[in-house]
Amino acid sequence: MKNSENRVVLSGMRPTGMLHLGHYHGVIENWVKLQEDSRFSACYYFVADWHSLTTEYDNTEEMPVFVRENVIDWLAYGVDPDKATVFVQSQVPEHAELHLVLSMYTPISWLERVPSYKDLQKELTGKDLSTYGFLGYPLLQTADVAIYKGTDVPVGQDQVAHIELSREIVRRFNHHTQSEILPEPQALLTSIPKLLGTDGRKMSKSYNNSIYLSEDSEAVRKKVMPMPTDPARVKRTDPGDPDKCPVFDYHKIYSGDEQKAEVTQGCTTAGIGCVDCKKILLSAMDDKLEPYRQKRSEVVAQKNYVDDVLSSGNAHARSVAKENILKIREVLHL
Ligand code: TRP
Ligand code: SF4
Repeated sequence: MKNSENRVVLSGMRPTGMLHLGHYHGVIENWVKLQEDSRFSACYYFVADWHSLTTEYDNTEEMPVFVRENVIDWLAYGVDPDKATVFVQSQVPEHAELHLVLSMYTPISWLERVPSYKDLQKELTGKDLSTYGFLGYPLLQTADVAIYKGTDVPVGQDQVAHIELSREIVRRFNHHTQSEILPEPQALLTSIPKLLGTDGRKMSKSYNNSIYLSEDSEAVRKKVMPMPTDPARVKRTDPGDPDKCPVFDYHKIYSGDEQKAEVTQGCTTAGIGCVDCKKILLSAMDDKLEPYRQKRSEVVAQKNYVDDVLSSGNAHARSVAKENILKIREVLHL
């Protein structure tokens, strides 16, 4: 393992929609912790707009809105531009140059055997994903990391295969160029339990079961009140089991120990109804989320703030990326 001086955190998110609580608990909360963590000398968080193009190539009109709104959410929910470099991938063309260079060292079969390649092709039927760009998705990701000499990549379980591939490509590149120029990155896995959608399925834009980071208390109430509960509680007097209830999954995240005990007791004895239980949850969610909502409206109200954050983030990222690409050109005699 590298010493802490050289450990660089790098992570990105595709701007394919508005961000929801799943993104907060699954990604952003962890980014915020890492920007405070003294084991790392730098953190880079970026909007992976080129990665969005790999699947949304015929649907780009809304992208600028998502780029901006996503960055607003990051800033509102704790990403600190004084501690992390916040930028937009396509504004740093060195990512693309390194992607091209690394493509010369990447066997096509390595890309074809990445599980997400075939899985997503099957999942996203009705979309032609037999493209060069989509095949190269994890290679572009490798370039994203390597262009900053990134060492630590916070990602979910679904992305581990991509980081494994990155390690192999970097190793091969270093070998062929007889250099140690690129560090082998490792995945920083987080053990956060997935926050499910309001219907108990994976929180996803396409299921219409998401609670967005930009939503206010009233909007959240409208989504929580109709949530399904333990099906055993048909009548108010039927006892229930919190472990069979998606509402209780939310309590686990937002409610304190005392409230959780109260709810468990009330549910299993039919002492409280599901409406009472949801009201307790909503109040706990408000306690946790209200400061972020407040911060979000401040971020939005501050004219030019987001533009300023991005232009200085882009400039800083670019200066680091430029320096590194020059060294890479050197080892390649370009
Ligand atoms: N593939 C990542 C995702 O879908 C986004 C991403 C692009 C990324 N480039 C990256 C994540 C580099 C980490 C590092 O979530
Ligand atoms: Fe779920 Fe709460 Fe109703 Fe129990 S009381 S079934 S935990 S909503």
